[in-house]
Amino acid sequence: MALINENYFKLKAGYLFPEIGKRVREFAEKNPEKKIIRMGIGDVTLPLSPSVVKAFRDAVDEMGRKESFRGYGPEQGYAFLREAIAVNEYQNRGINIPADDIFVSDGSKCDTGNIQEIFGNENVVAICDPIYPVYADTTVMAGKTGECGPNGYFSGIVYMPCTENNNFVPDLPKEKVDLIFLCYPNNPMGTVATKKELARWVKYATDNRAIILFDAAYEAFISDPSIPRSIYEIEGAEKVAIEFRSFSKTAGFTGVRCAYTVIPSTLVAYDTQGKSHPVKPLWARRHSTKFNGVSYPVQRAAEAVYSEQGKRETKEIIAYYMENAAIMKRELAAAGFKAFGGENAPYVWAKTKNNMKSWDFFDKLLKEAGVVGTPGSGFGPSGEGYFRFSAFADRTDVIEAMGKIKALFK
Ligand code: MLT
Repeated sequence: MALINENYFKLKAGYLFPEIGKRVREFAEKNPEKKIIRMGIGDVTLPLSPSVVKAFRDAVDEMGRKESFRGYGPEQGYAFLREAIAVNEYQNRGINIPADDIFVSDGSKCDTGNIQEIFGNENVVAICDPIYPVYADTTVMAGKTGECGPNGYFSGIVYMPCTENNNFVPDLPKEKVDLIFLCYPNNPMGTVATKKELARWVKYATDNRAIILFDAAYEAFISDPSIPRSIYEIEGAEKVAIEFRSFSKTAGFTGVRCAYTVIPSTLVAYDTQGKSHPVKPLWARRHSTKFNGVSYPVQRAAEAVYSEQGKRETKEIIAYYMENAAIMKRELAAAGFKAFGGENAPYVWAKTKNNMKSWDFFDKLLKEAGVVGTPGSGFGPSGEGYFRFSAFADRTDVIEAMGKIKALFK
């Protein structure tokens, strides 16, 4: 008898973004004449930059010639890309991360979920609420939790509410936890963490022999130089943190797929006897067993992000999206919404009007304004009554959507 992984039955019906997609599709089928402006899933709209396209194309051409064709590449990623990442993202900023600590992959979504595999199911996982739903869902899939309670919390996970009351920065957990998911700049709230705040977490992890799983997928959107872009800017973090980064939002790779995970050689976890073991070899073992690497042309395209032209173009792309965020924040405030984030992150987090529930607000906005956002409650119970707008839309759409929202709620 083939037994199923019953942990899947504990999950809520569907993953957040397909559920949004389903509702939008149904609405569009019934109202084919209505324009729909999508500011829900954080999916980019600007094309790949010219330098990226050229590198991509050249690499495809190489693959089409016998003398330069390549088969399987190194599972951890080609040295040319890992070197470029190490130098440009870390070493040039005074952070000592060697290329050998970098694992190239096809996405941070996969990596933040898959990382669970190398840690035992006895670990207590701490997760912010609200937060990117992958962390909780994959913790459930892995079997690290019990059932979901009426409050929307899975037993076995320690939730750390992020609300207006604590300025959306979670307090340290009162109970002892072993794995801590943090995401800064934050998805969904668009807020950032200061050096001091991250230092508190590094100290907690050091004192409790815990590990921080730091999702920095949106670091490139930080413009305030005092805000850390990497957890490794904090002293001691290389002993207690794994960092996840992505080209998806930074360079428009959501459809191309390229990301990386940093596991410093100095990071350890423990066996049940309390003996320490380096974590990196386990991830290397997993990676080489279950993954055959990102395609060569994609890695060449990612490398081009670090050319002088690539850097200039990437900056322009980011500036465009951040201008969208500024417009959204300003217009939402003008429409009487309390809005947060959007200054060092491409998401604006708004409180709904008249205490409307997040999904009711979603339906109203879709049906009456043709605007799609993401209901805050989809990111966790503390997101109820909030709504997330993605700044990755087209500028004219952003302006039109904000005009419609203003008209609807004036
Ligand atoms: C989001 O909208 O939260 C993200 O685009 C989802 C993702 O990166 O997987």
